[in-house]
Amino acid sequence: MNMQISKTPIGLDGIPAAETVLSHVDGERGELIIAGERVGDLARKSSFEGVTARLWSSGTGQPIGEAAVRAALGAARERAFVRLPELLAASRGLSIVDGFRAAIAALRAENGLSHEATIVGALPVIAGALIQRARGAEPVAPDATLGHAADTLAMIHRRKPDSREAAALDAYLVTVCDHGMNASTFATRVVASTHADLFASVTAGYCALTGPLHGGAPEPVLEMLDAIGDRARIKPWIDDALARGERLMGFGHRIYRVRDPRADVLKGAIERLATNGTDLPFAGEVEAYAREALRREKPNRPLDTNVEFFTAILLDALAIPRQAFTPIFAAARAAGWTAHAREQQRGGRLIRPSSAYIGPLPA
Ligand code: ACO
Repeated sequence: MNMQISKTPIGLDGIPAAETVLSHVDGERGELIIAGERVGDLARKSSFEGVTARLWSSGTGQPIGEAAVRAALGAARERAFVRLPELLAASRGLSIVDGFRAAIAALRAENGLSHEATIVGALPVIAGALIQRARGAEPVAPDATLGHAADTLAMIHRRKPDSREAAALDAYLVTVCDHGMNASTFATRVVASTHADLFASVTAGYCALTGPLHGGAPEPVLEMLDAIGDRARIKPWIDDALARGERLMGFGHRIYRVRDPRADVLKGAIERLATNGTDLPFAGEVEAYAREALRREKPNRPLDTNVEFFTAILLDALAIPRQAFTPIFAAARAAGWTAHAREQQRGGRLIRPSSAYIGPLPA
């Protein structure tokens, strides 16, 4: 005998899993607030170190300053570089995305550094080393005197970035550093709620991030733009993809019913960067037609541009290899994951939802 199928909405839509002072997503108004500031304002006036200081301070009663975070992240990058051989040991033969997972899992506490700084400092060092390894090159040592964004680019490109490039990556890191109870933050908090440590919690967060319905979308966005190829093919390509029932990568969101506010922040960062070879007008035409087609094909479901569409274009304009987009996203989101893990450990309860049983009952 089968039990009756439950009418419970599956996927935990709209169910609060925690109280947080870290960030708030208003899907109807298209607004994202991170530690009390709108994301657009933060991206304009704050560095990644500044917003990380806000996240790590929020709700703790022990404020940390931007300079202290800058120093801690610089030290953590240097420490991770020394540990690279052991961090990368289990990642041989794996792709950049999978090798990054193995390396995060190998992180451990460092004397004199908080777990938060150890993790957030290590991630760009690991990403840089995996990118170099894929090119057959040696890793580039970090420079603790540089800002976190500038040093991330230096470890990827083997040269100091110019100020426009560093500012563009910094704007990206700030924009995606935290975003309410998204899937990877939820995964992080579930693990932290068992009082497992931050290393275990963040490893879980990264695993959740890698799927294409979450942080694995930007590489497929570029593949979509490549496949469309030129302006004449925009309409037929998108119409055919939707007719086949495919999802357009970089569109749709569980919470936003209007355009993701981060899309505009990143679009602005791309315009300021204005590198040769970035065909923003072409991407804009793809975006405009995709929105129109989604409105037509899915009239009952508001589907609009999400952050991943312009993430793909920005990271590509910064010449970051597309295979490393998810690790770079993780390097930013780790600021939020670590803050959420601490918040969960401080005041949270074990997260243990229920399931709706639809299997057979014993006779
Ligand atoms: N293209 C076409 N149709 C879509 C898309 C899309 N991008 N997104 C959702 N839909 C459709 C679904 O097919 C479904 O249609 P149906 O009711 O006719 O079957 C309807 O919209 C509802 O879809 P759900 O899966 O219930 O929506 P959900 O809230 O679970 O999806 C998600 C959110 C996963 C982001 C989805 O919009 C998607 O797959 N987008 C493409 C991948 C992507 O851009 N991922 C990055 C997300 S941003 C981030 O995590 C950082």
